[in-house]
Amino acid sequence: TPPVVLAVDGPAGSGKSSISKAVAGRLGWAYLDTGAAYRALGWYVVERGLDPTDAAVVIASMPDFDYRIGTDPDTYRVLVGERDVTEAIREPRVTAIVSAIARVPQVRAFLTQLFRGIIARSGKAGIVVEGRDITTVVCPDAPVRILLTADEAVRMNRRSAELTGHSAAHVGEALRKRDAADSRVVDFMNAAEGVTTVDSTELDFDQTVDAVIAVVQKET
Ligand code: C5P
Repeated sequence: TPPVVLAVDGPAGSGKSSISKAVAGRLGWAYLDTGAAYRALGWYVVERGLDPTDAAVVIASMPDFDYRIGTDPDTYRVLVGERDVTEAIREPRVTAIVSAIARVPQVRAFLTQLFRGIIARSGKAGIVVEGRDITTVVCPDAPVRILLTADEAVRMNRRSAELTGHSAAHVGEALRKRDAADSRVVDFMNAAEGVTTVDSTELDFDQTVDAVIAVVQKET
């Protein structure tokens, strides 16, 4: 039987990844970070010396893109072929170009198919799938769909606390720009019909995890 899907969307800095991982851990479910695959494809294009803003070049590199996810649920390593790119895909040089990759419709269709395969083979009772278009495009029929939000100032503060060595103003500006670019492709700032909003502005980490679990328990 296919796994129960908890779909989680939200903007950068909403705490999506850390909250989704913790929820998956609590439920004993699998976890899929779809943003990591967009980042890994971006890394792959840059690594080969190709221009990530050239859609035709990006599309041509997709068939050889060998995306793998590590089997250790504590680390969720990301591999492209034999290369472990878990850390590399978080580097600013990748973050800066990932939105250009993500706006190409053929890339979105390709990765959406990849995600559906990973979900089907995940082998657990359930899976938390996290990204920007999971509630609307990748898993619109998921029994539980959540939009995780927080006020912009709070998201900027949380993210700059995470990234030491960068000024809050610089981090905030980069985040705003990426959200603006991504929002032109998919709407993850407003909940689609049937999607439950969890606003973490006034919640700490554990309270947010509890709030998400409460939605899962109510809706499954
Ligand atoms: O979640 P994260 O910030 O790591 O995502 C990196 C980028 O991948 C986003 O800025 C966006 O361009 C793209 N993305 C997407 N659709 C998803 C997940 C991520 O377009 N479902």
